[in-house]
Amino acid sequence: MCGIVGYIGSGRAYGILMDGLRRLEYRGYDSAGVALERDDGTLSVYKSSGKVADLEHLAEGKDTTGSLGIGHTRWATHGQPNDVNAHPQVSRGGRLALVHNGTIENYRVLKETLSQCGYSFASETDTEVLVQLIDYIQETNHCPLPEAVREALREVDGAYAIAVVERDQPDQMVVARKSSPLVIGVGEGETFVASDATPIVGHTDQVIYLHDNEMAVIRRGKPLEVQSLAGEARPSLDVQTLRLSVAQLEKGGYPTFMLKEIFEQPSTLTDCLRGRITADCRRVVLSGVVENREKFLRAHRIVIVACGTSWHAGLIGKRLIQEMCGIPVEVEYASEFRYGCPRISEDDVVVAISQSGETADTLAAIQLAREMGAFVYGICNVVGSSIPRNTHSGTYIHVGPEIGVASTKAFTGQVTVLVLLALCLAQIKGTLRPYEVEPVAKALQRMPATIKEVLRLAPAVEQLSRTFTYAHNFLYLGRGYNYPTALEGALKLKEISYIHAEGYPAAEMKHGPIALIDDEMPSVIIAPNDSLHDKVLSNVQQVKARGGRVVAVINSGDEAIKSLADYCLEIPEVPECLTPIVASVPLQLLAYYIAVNKGRNVDKPRNLAKSVTVE
Ligand code: M6R
Repeated sequence: MCGIVGYIGSGRAYGILMDGLRRLEYRGYDSAGVALERDDGTLSVYKSSGKVADLEHLAEGKDTTGSLGIGHTRWATHGQPNDVNAHPQVSRGGRLALVHNGTIENYRVLKETLSQCGYSFASETDTEVLVQLIDYIQETNHCPLPEAVREALREVDGAYAIAVVERDQPDQMVVARKSSPLVIGVGEGETFVASDATPIVGHTDQVIYLHDNEMAVIRRGKPLEVQSLAGEARPSLDVQTLRLSVAQLEKGGYPTFMLKEIFEQPSTLTDCLRGRITADCRRVVLSGVVENREKFLRAHRIVIVACGTSWHAGLIGKRLIQEMCGIPVEVEYASEFRYGCPRISEDDVVVAISQSGETADTLAAIQLAREMGAFVYGICNVVGSSIPRNTHSGTYIHVGPEIGVASTKAFTGQVTVLVLLALCLAQIKGTLRPYEVEPVAKALQRMPATIKEVLRLAPAVEQLSRTFTYAHNFLYLGRGYNYPTALEGALKLKEISYIHAEGYPAAEMKHGPIALIDDEMPSVIIAPNDSLHDKVLSNVQQVKARGGRVVAVINSGDEAIKSLADYCLEIPEVPECLTPIVASVPLQLLAYYIAVNKGRNVDKPRNLAKSVTVE
């Protein structure tokens, strides 16, 4: 969703901000803007609905000098995605300019109060209320900007990451955060600010993550000041080294990030597995689980919370943990969790899964689970993001930056980590012996090579995709471990091609969706040689008996299904618990090629954001 970038130094802010905004595009947005402050203290704001390219077009020929600036990509929440509602928002008379990620929940009350004090509002945004509030406090109290920001934020309920600049103060920027991330990049005589590290990569690898309820005053040529909103200086700046490279943020010769990320899976799974399985493949070591073995051993129940693709991974995690460890598991949509009267106790372990680590609903579920006394474990991709910082412990999936909005390599990474977690926990609980761990661990170690083999299907899937480019509906069916795979396959297709697709447990089909089947409604059926193979085979027969067309994902040599299905995608055989990792890859490819055939923007599908930072 929204993205922030800021710069203060000796370089030209405009170019740095525009590059940063382009790097933030992957998050999803519908307008963009910048505020630039020249060395003489004049402040100019350029903003436009549409893309960063539209903003560039708007700024063409205008004065874009200045070595201080803030920029923003906005994903509309309060008000239309138009020029006026775009950020930066400015205060009365254009004295202050502010960019904001998050939502100010009490903005109506604040707006009402400010209106009574003579303020008027050009936009429909909550952000304009905040910048006017800072202006009001500054004017009333005759105080410097940092003090006014601190005062204003005390009045505010909600979530925010903000960056503010002030006319006639070309050497200063103030930033703050609560429940929305903000990272500060410390370079040689220059400082960068961003909502995630992507705009900073390539400028500096030294970063400071701002904590919740902290603000920083960045002054040209002066040491950085980080303090709590209560005014206490942070004892140590805790400068960290970024492990991200520019190459990871580029397409590397692929036409889209999504295709690059699908093809990266052999190497991302290698990174994900690194150091977690012993050389003899008889033991799995996830340090977060081992270090918290007592909490896990005490758990009467595990509750998994997540959204979207991560929720699908969670469903697979449920089956893995129940089967291998004998612990009851519940999987909740994080977005529903807090509204469902959750009954969580100190005897529960809550596992939160999130690629971005910034999903607002998942963060809210974590907060509630913590308040209720549970031990909360995170499974995340983005290092240093909010979820790892708000959980007691956890595991990174280490699949590198995922830029395409549709999750691909993060899903296979999440499932891989869930397999590792289940194996590790099973060892600790004594529910699996080393000889039982070994075949799964060995197959996991071979997984990068297995996925390489699956990726050879790409040309066949591309050809197959042409048959279905104009289908209006799809059914995805699977059972057991592959019911979530079906859900994930359907989600991929609908997200990027805008074709309606439903994932269903294959046996549930006869309880309703079977009515939909005809020769215009293709069914994608995941049918590896697992314990439910013969049952899925009858589901294939049921679809065929009603004139439906079947695309089956099967293991090589499955003549029974081959003789029935219209099209087969053959994947290598792996232990049953690993089939979702292997079977999801052809489904990613199918969705990808259908979307490309339809001319869709697969990396940035309409209406979607990469990290969903609002409720
Ligand atoms: O970053 P998260 O894993 O918490 O995101 C959750 C969902 O928003 C995300 O998985 C979404 O469903 C993706 N677009 C799926 O491709």
